[in-house]
Amino acid sequence: MRIFEEMESEVRGYIRSFPAVFDVAKGSEIFDEHNNRYIDFFAGAGSLNYGHNNPAISKALIEYLQHDGIVHGLDKATVAKKAFLQKLKDTIFSPRNLEYKVQFTGPTGTNAVETALKLARMIKGRSNIITFTNAYHGLSMGSLAVTGNSFYRDESYGVRANSAFIPFDGYMGHDFDSMGYLRKILTDQSSGIDLPAAIIVETVQGEGGIHVARDEWLQELEGICREFDILLIIDDIQMGNGRTGTFFSFERSGITPDMVTVSKSIGTGLPMALLLMQPKLDQWKPGEHTGTFRGNNLAFVAATKALEYWDTPDFAEGIAHKGKMFEQGLRAIIEKYPDTQAELRGVGMVWGIEFADEGFAGCISEEAFNRNLIIETAGANGQVLKFLAALTIEESLIEEGLKIIDESIAAVLATRKNLHDGILV
Ligand SMILES: Cc1ncc(COP(=O)(O)O)c(C=O)c1O
Repeated sequence: MRIFEEMESEVRGYIRSFPAVFDVAKGSEIFDEHNNRYIDFFAGAGSLNYGHNNPAISKALIEYLQHDGIVHGLDKATVAKKAFLQKLKDTIFSPRNLEYKVQFTGPTGTNAVETALKLARMIKGRSNIITFTNAYHGLSMGSLAVTGNSFYRDESYGVRANSAFIPFDGYMGHDFDSMGYLRKILTDQSSGIDLPAAIIVETVQGEGGIHVARDEWLQELEGICREFDILLIIDDIQMGNGRTGTFFSFERSGITPDMVTVSKSIGTGLPMALLLMQPKLDQWKPGEHTGTFRGNNLAFVAATKALEYWDTPDFAEGIAHKGKMFEQGLRAIIEKYPDTQAELRGVGMVWGIEFADEGFAGCISEEAFNRNLIIETAGANGQVLKFLAALTIEESLIEEGLKIIDESIAAVLATRKNLHDGILV
């Protein structure tokens, strides 16, 4: 680890949670330089929904490189981009009656968010954006302004302007009418909140701690956006690409966003981000929002292959089945440890356990890593243990990983009890 400590910035994060030097990976298993095997319940923070080095995707990439296919092409037309757009249209848009125009933004999620906010402001001629408590939309300046967690926000960055935060579904308890509150602030000319250009929302807050918005809440939000001439942006960067059970996370609620941000798993681990927009919103002039890396041709090849998973209903059925395995397995585990006052939340293949003791999830993640399972935390204070396995994970690995979680909870509780009892461990 010495070279990383010596050379790499203090900003490094995951390397501290998972201190091993990783070498090879296949599916949901990762091996470090000493050939120690780890099960992956983190999937590159949701970038590896199709697993590490998916054989079909790797094969397509190798063939493309051997053929000397274009790797970098700015936003020029390439065969790889043509195939990707056609596949996206045929497999994802057409069966869902969606007619989005596609913009290739800079390659990370935050680039797509920046683009959506900029376009919304340009179209509506308004600067304000409404966002939600616990929202996470990325850490470049525009995205940071609509991200809630104060760990990332500092007044000195000057990013607090032009956004207003309102309570996400359930933030104030389910008795609180957050949509009634939104309607009130939009109609009351003395609310102090300007009519926004857009409302940006995650249907399930990932980094914010696995908060699942109810379908009726999302439908009401869409209705308010239409009524007040506000653009609805769904940030599907973490929850899209099948994570919640359908390709887009908003499908379950039947809403049709004006814009959708897509990144992470669309490139199957290779950087790529898209902004999808209703055709009438595509008001850019040629080259008006540009950048060097917009359209990663290797990611196009990988994505085109990965979208084949959506050719038949089998893949979505598999997600539902494995999601149930997680839900049932995790419910059984938390029932064993009532003192932890754990709450299970999630949908599809994204699950979170929030513990009453805020430091507990971090201890479980650490203990699980010692037992060769990679799992991260989420939430304002890292109080939620977050299950984000690849959608392609084998059932035997789900069982093995859940057993490690169970053992890790037992081990952390035992250590705490021993410390409490004054026994040195
Ligand atoms: C919902 C959401 N939006 C935006 C981002 C930012 O993406 P990136 O880290 O690729 O910039 C993330 C990253 O976790 C995310 O979860």
